[in-house]
Amino acid sequence: MVAKESQPSRDLTRGKTRFSPAPDRRSELEWPPKGAHENMKPILAIYPGSFDPVTNGHLDLIERGAKIFDQLVVAVLRNLEKDPLFDVNERVEMLREATRAWPNVEVDIFDGLLVDYAQQRNAQVLLRGIRAISDYEYELQMALMNRKLAPQIETVFMMPAEAYSYLSSRLVKEIARLGGPVHGLVPPIVEQRLRAKVF
Ligand code: PNS
Repeated sequence: MVAKESQPSRDLTRGKTRFSPAPDRRSELEWPPKGAHENMKPILAIYPGSFDPVTNGHLDLIERGAKIFDQLVVAVLRNLEKDPLFDVNERVEMLREATRAWPNVEVDIFDGLLVDYAQQRNAQVLLRGIRAISDYEYELQMALMNRKLAPQIETVFMMPAEAYSYLSSRLVKEIARLGGPVHGLVPPIVEQRLRAKVF
């Protein structure tokens, strides 16, 4: 942006030309602009998923989302096509326990179309995580279809920490089923519940 130059102006009272000061550019660049808070709508984002069970990768994304959105709703899909290891109430209980530290995070259950649920909640954003390029095609397809169904809702992608890029609920369940360690991959509540369920 080109800096505004000082403009000469006529001082009519004395008939002399004088210079008015250049506008303060700091106030032009200020974010949020003065008075913006009154007009700014709080952003509600929905983070949907199966969460069967929640992993530390999901929690990493929830923490990132909770930092940039005013309210984050973790929405658990009730009826999974695949047979879930944990029923929806167990998945919700584990999520509630694991997200207790974040006051602007809520855990809820949804059924049917995600965009219908998002519209009922007046959400502006759908949050999804992309771990690797292999996630991208499916996520792009879903985001574009959701945009077709509800153009006013934006999908926002965030990347979890690299340490979680290989982590998935499916692998965690497989490791637990085969007696392997899941410590560090899931929150303690999930570790306990997995042990009780599969060992
Ligand atoms: O954790 P997942 O299994 O990757 O989550 C997938 C989920 C729940 C976000 C997706 O299957 C979904 O949104 N299901 C609800 C039904 C729906 O809206 N389908 C159309 C998606 S374009």
